[in-house]
Amino acid sequence: MSPMRAVKNLKIDAGRLWDDLMQTAAIGATPKGGICRLTLTELDRQVRDWFRARVEALGCTVTIDDMGAMFARRPGQRADVAPIAMGSHLDTQPTGGKFDGALGVLAALEALRTLVEASYETFAPIEVVNWTNEEGARFAPSMIASGVFAGVFSRDWACARKDRGGESFGEALEKIGYRGRQRCGDHRLSAFFELHIEQGPFLEAENKDIGVVTGVQAMRWYEVTVTGEDRHAGTTPMPRRRDALLGAARIVEAVNACTRRYPSAVGTVGVLEARPGSPNVVPGEVFHTIDLRDPDADVLDRLEKEIAAEASRIGGELGLSVAIKTISAEPPVRFDAGCVAAVRAAAAKSGYSGRDIISRAGHDAAFIARVAPAAMIFVPCKDGISHNETEYSSIEQCAAGAQVLLQTVLDYDRRLAEQFGK
Ligand code: GLV
Ligand code: MN
Ligand code: MN
Repeated sequence: MSPMRAVKNLKIDAGRLWDDLMQTAAIGATPKGGICRLTLTELDRQVRDWFRARVEALGCTVTIDDMGAMFARRPGQRADVAPIAMGSHLDTQPTGGKFDGALGVLAALEALRTLVEASYETFAPIEVVNWTNEEGARFAPSMIASGVFAGVFSRDWACARKDRGGESFGEALEKIGYRGRQRCGDHRLSAFFELHIEQGPFLEAENKDIGVVTGVQAMRWYEVTVTGEDRHAGTTPMPRRRDALLGAARIVEAVNACTRRYPSAVGTVGVLEARPGSPNVVPGEVFHTIDLRDPDADVLDRLEKEIAAEASRIGGELGLSVAIKTISAEPPVRFDAGCVAAVRAAAAKSGYSGRDIISRAGHDAAFIARVAPAAMIFVPCKDGISHNETEYSSIEQCAAGAQVLLQTVLDYDRRLAEQFGK
């Protein structure tokens, strides 16, 4: 590699980034313009193969860990220094958009390609990461690989998580050939930076180019099983029924009503399955999820208690048993002050307007922040819409994010070199 060049000369190529976004969007494309690329499916394998081919063509070495997380490394001057990593996820929601996750990985790829083209030699190695199952749409909870990486979930528990069809995470990973040899978490990072669309309305409303993400709100996921009794729909008089679906419907209402008492909280039931699922059987069992979030964990403590009390009251009234299992409980996250400052400075240096912002969505960076300095960069998306096939950020918005990502990594790399006395 040739000697270092002035950082200001390095510019990402917006058209190239956009082409990558559109090419990968074809893998799992939906008729309404989105992507359905659930984690560890054949489509996930295809996009992983695509990513691997691209980074290998740039001379990177790809390491895959035993949760399927992919790390593409470009060496720096010092092989003994842990890499500065950037990335996100390539899995999507069932009706996902083209940008949630993909932008963070593909912008990182574009930043890396910019370094390669300029023969720019960094001090630390640089890595592009694709985390497995960020979405949690197929295997709950979300952010499974980064969670194991950070020691939040055990590997065995994560691998045993089942999709609704009964296939486990471990089996699915094996099937697509992406169970790697590295033990998840045995991979030191000097820092991690994740670019993402905001998925909310604030940057667009305030006409800001860049969100400097200072933290992530608290979030909890629960799985609820409501049990009553299967009975004949024609012959069982109304007072004799123990209708699990009626109970679940009232719990859904209670989740909404309780959450509305806290202005900053959000509460969602996103999955609900009634069994046995026949028009003429009173449903004897219902499985449903609850997703609760707030910037303040104390609010979630109170909300959780209130919902549990309502569920128990409803169960008592209808003769049902209600079991609520917490499957993830993540406290609010504050990103590393040095990494946040690097993002803020990079946005200013690149000539973009920015504002500090808290992420309302969960992200892999929130878990990685437990084991390495981390921060995130947001760009606006149209009408704040995400987890929707119409999700959209413009080529200019995506490019601004990628440029700030590159600038952040370069600034952080220089600071690292200074720390090492270089
Ligand atoms: C991630 O997609 C989340 O649920 O916030
Ligand atoms: Mn995402
Ligand atoms: Mn998402």
